[in-house]
Amino acid sequence: MVNQVDHRTRLAWPAKMAIEVREAEPEEYADAGRVTALAYREFVPPDDVGDWGRYLARMADVAGRADRTHILVAVEDGRIVGCVTLEIDGRVGDWDGDPPLQPGEAHIRMLGVDPGARARGIGTRLMAACEARARAAGKGFVTLHTTKRMEAAQRMYSRLGYERTEDHVFPDGFVLMGYRKELSGSIT
Ligand SMILES: CC(C)(COP(=O)(O)OP(=O)(O)OC[C@H]1O[C@@H](n2cnc3c(N)ncnc32)[C@H](O)[C@@H]1OP(=O)(O)O)[C@@H](O)C(=O)NCCC(=O)NCCS
Repeated sequence: MVNQVDHRTRLAWPAKMAIEVREAEPEEYADAGRVTALAYREFVPPDDVGDWGRYLARMADVAGRADRTHILVAVEDGRIVGCVTLEIDGRVGDWDGDPPLQPGEAHIRMLGVDPGARARGIGTRLMAACEARARAAGKGFVTLHTTKRMEAAQRMYSRLGYERTEDHVFPDGFVLMGYRKELSGSIT
């Protein structure tokens, strides 16, 4: 029977690990931000002239966006191992081209899992928690952006039923890939 069980289910077995996904407490914002920035550090190019460095600093500033977004954390044995920012009522507001949320839309931002805690279903759990909160808030669909280099994320989004939408191309050629999922179903 065991090899019929999905690897994420098996690894999420309570005896193996107890991961709690919940809203971050204010005293956890600094650590949640540290883990978020740590998760994205692998994408900083060696020749970064500061753009990525500034972006990581914004990601780490959870306290600066917690008044208008939902900050969810994954906690294992009292340690934050993942974090995601969910826009339900308002935007983070760190990006000029970001239009207001559409009616029925929730938007996922800055999903990150500690590199030492990956491939154990934590990202999936954070996504499921975002969808549950969006649904509870009466939202009909979830959107998000990713980039070409974020391949694990792309695989995960496809597996979770997200479909590709339009890209957003910045003047310097940087491409944000759009994804969207209707909330009629649920993650099992
Ligand atoms: C994307 C991310 C959040 C996924 O977190 P996670 O806890 O590893 O997610 P899960 O375990 O639920 O599943 C992720 C998938 O990536 C795979 N994966 C994750 N880390 C991996 C690794 N180091 N090596 C190989 N595969 C890996 C998992 O096996 C799983 O594959 P599947 O979807 O084919 O089943 C995490 O890789 C991360 O923080 N990446 C850097 C930041 C990022 O890209 N964020 C998304 C921005 S849009």
